[in-house]
Amino acid sequence: MKSLSLARTALAGLAAAALALSSGTAQAKPAKAAEPWWKHAVIYEIYPRSFQDTNGDGVGDLKGVTQRLDYLKALGVDAIWLTPFFPSPNKDFGYDVADYTNVSPEYGTMQDWDVLSREAKKRGIRILVDFVLNHSSDQHPWFKESRSSRTNPKRDWYVWRDPAPDGGPPSNWESIFGGSTWEFDKATGQYYYHVFYPEQPDVNWSNPGLRKAMLDVMRFWLDHGASGFRLDATPYLFEDTSWPKDPDVKSGAPVGLKPYNSNLPANHEVLRSLRQLVDSYPGDRMLLGENAISNVEDLRRVYGAKGDEINLPMDFLYTGVKGLDAPTFKARIDEAHLKLDGLPPVFHFSNHDTTRQWTRFGDGKNDGLIARLTAAMTLTLRGTALMYYGEEIGMADLKPDELKAFPLGPKRKVADRRDPVRSPMQWSASAGAGFTTGDPWLPVAATASATNVAAQLADKGSMYHWYARLLNLRKTSPAIRNGAYVPLESGNDKVVAYARRSKSGEGVLVLLNMSAERQKLAISGWRGGTPKFGKVIMASTATGTVDMAHPELEPFSTVLISFRAP
Ligand code: NOJ
Repeated sequence: MKSLSLARTALAGLAAAALALSSGTAQAKPAKAAEPWWKHAVIYEIYPRSFQDTNGDGVGDLKGVTQRLDYLKALGVDAIWLTPFFPSPNKDFGYDVADYTNVSPEYGTMQDWDVLSREAKKRGIRILVDFVLNHSSDQHPWFKESRSSRTNPKRDWYVWRDPAPDGGPPSNWESIFGGSTWEFDKATGQYYYHVFYPEQPDVNWSNPGLRKAMLDVMRFWLDHGASGFRLDATPYLFEDTSWPKDPDVKSGAPVGLKPYNSNLPANHEVLRSLRQLVDSYPGDRMLLGENAISNVEDLRRVYGAKGDEINLPMDFLYTGVKGLDAPTFKARIDEAHLKLDGLPPVFHFSNHDTTRQWTRFGDGKNDGLIARLTAAMTLTLRGTALMYYGEEIGMADLKPDELKAFPLGPKRKVADRRDPVRSPMQWSASAGAGFTTGDPWLPVAATASATNVAAQLADKGSMYHWYARLLNLRKTSPAIRNGAYVPLESGNDKVVAYARRSKSGEGVLVLLNMSAERQKLAISGWRGGTPKFGKVIMASTATGTVDMAHPELEPFSTVLISFRAP
């Protein structure tokens, strides 16, 4: 098993083989009258196992998500992304799917899904379903058939190869979760390919039957009200079937992006077909892709040469910045806005694979200020933002001791290095944190007694209200919603400064002090002259004002100031 920071360190991967791209000739689809909903959306990731349990079994469920829709509506999110809730042996907690078109009994029933889908729609909240398209569980009936004999009609739905002449695996490639990418099947005398766990055999997208079955899975959820999909592990759908020897198997770790296993031309062709399918449905259905890439040029390719593949690529360029490094953040943010031909970037820090931002950036003394800063940065940029459940109240990773003391059992048969970031949502200070009345599948963090939704709803100065105000600003401020990005220079390498400006010239200046010291600024880069500054819209420190004639920022402070362009 690779690390907790699987996604975070994605940018360490090698540049992938990719289609030659001529962005100069890129043709966008004819513009629709209104902008699609996802272009400026906030998408809230829910790990259903840990969000809300309604039947006391210690495992969250779909009914629990429905129960909390009003909370999500009040917070102001546009959509939720549900990580896998399908039947699964849970080797990789749902990312090993045993039935793509059903709900695991742990999480409820299809009827529960229908209720959730209907109730979410009533509140204007869209749902994205996690589509694990690169691999299934080895317990999926397709794979069981496939491995049953070499002549089974589904044999070719997975990637089978004869042993090498010496009887060993067909290539020396390594899987992302460690060990060979090949697993030997004694009964039929061949190896099958898996880029993740051996229990997650890769499906064969070259096979027309498999391809049709997968597109039917998408139709199933679209017909059941899904607004689109979060696509799992998109780079790995095809392999170079000459199985070249890898001279350096460890390079590209931990995401294993190699020229021979990722982003092959056929990958783009499949993604285009998925996009065509979602586009054929009404209501701006869309694809949010998990894409590991190492630079902005590769990121541009993920949208498709003609903007006809993934609508919103979750890359890890911004997400992967180490520490509060202002110049690097500025560079990542500038390139995402200026080098993607105007296509919408996606910004986020936390998810179910990676350290929560509270834990990652916090210094133990100024954690609240720092979390307000990282939230404001992610949510005031142009494009789409992702949030991870609990981020809005400043949930932290579980501490190693909290996990060590917690026994494995039927609800958690295996420990996973990502367990610390998947602890139960902290709704209240009660036992079980309002998540469950039973024994939770993962421990409730000790912080729940102080850090919980109930307490923060009642406190106007809380993290929850900071987030709610930012989300509200994204809806009510034309500059923040879809205004231009203005790449300013702060004149100080501890401070990130940028502005958003609406067509009418109203704008918001964003100032982020990434240091524990007071910082002086010398802001430059205003096109058309320095604007006239107005009131402070939001400020994370008590003083809450900045003298724009001689601007200074308090340690770790975040300040948003309105302006009018000259
Ligand atoms: C990426 C998912 O985010 C991760 O949780 C999972 O383990 C792998 N893909 C394999 O499906």
